[in-house]
Amino acid sequence: MFAEGYIGIAGIIGVGKSTLTNELAKALNFEPVMEEVSGNPYLEKFYSDMKKYGTIMQIWLLNHRFRQHREFIARISLGKIRGVVQDRTIWEDTIFARMLNQHPEKIISDLDYNTYLDLFDNMVLRELVFPQLMIFLDCSVETAMERIKMRGRSMEKTITADYLKSLQENYYQFIEEMEDAGVRILRIDWETFKPTSEVVRLVHEYSLKPSSFTKWVRPLRKPPQETKAQEKVNV
Ligand SMILES: Nc1ncnc2c1ncn2[C@@H]1O[C@H](COP(=O)(O)OP(=O)(O)O)[C@@H](O)[C@H]1O
Ligand SMILES: [Mg+2]
Repeated sequence: MFAEGYIGIAGIIGVGKSTLTNELAKALNFEPVMEEVSGNPYLEKFYSDMKKYGTIMQIWLLNHRFRQHREFIARISLGKIRGVVQDRTIWEDTIFARMLNQHPEKIISDLDYNTYLDLFDNMVLRELVFPQLMIFLDCSVETAMERIKMRGRSMEKTITADYLKSLQENYYQFIEEMEDAGVRILRIDWETFKPTSEVVRLVHEYSLKPSSFTKWVRPLRKPPQETKAQEKVNV
């Protein structure tokens, strides 16, 4: 099932999701649903000790975003709002969880990762409604590093290019999995920012394409694979 009027914005740290979420929501007269970095009580601790806080922060995030998800889906279906643009979707949390599990240092242990996936399957998955359109913003790791530096959040100083590279590879795989399941994906090259009006035009164009959505997307169970070269929309 997917929700008419639900647009998700996906992408690695620093690519420009939050900025576009606000702008696009304004342009479409939708409600922005923001990722609240300052409200996350674990984030700073996580960046200073990933192994200690990795698992519990993923549980916190999943719970937080699940609550957010259910609330806005209810408001859309009751007709209280026309739609939402969401700054990072709940599925993307599973990218981080898997990446931390696959890290050579096993930041999240196999046991903890299995518990996380089991919780996701058993308590979260069946309640989820898919976006009408998922926009994937993509830029190089170097550019994302520059943007992270530019916004100057002190806790993000420990983010390395290797961490972002691995995140990006996991995102490519995730986007293919969503697409295989029939979710409409709009890839946009965000190496340079585009005017919001261009994004609005693409949103309208892509939303008219038929969706072949057929099945629930289980998060990221496939073993890691070579990422295919990414097709991008040039606007
Ligand atoms: N369209 C844009 N125009 C100008 N600056 C932008 C734009 N999008 C993002 N930025 C800047 O790039 C940095 C990262 O953007 P942000 O939206 O916070 O990324 P994300 O939410 O993906 O981590 C911020 O400093 C932001 O001000
Ligand atoms: Mg953000």
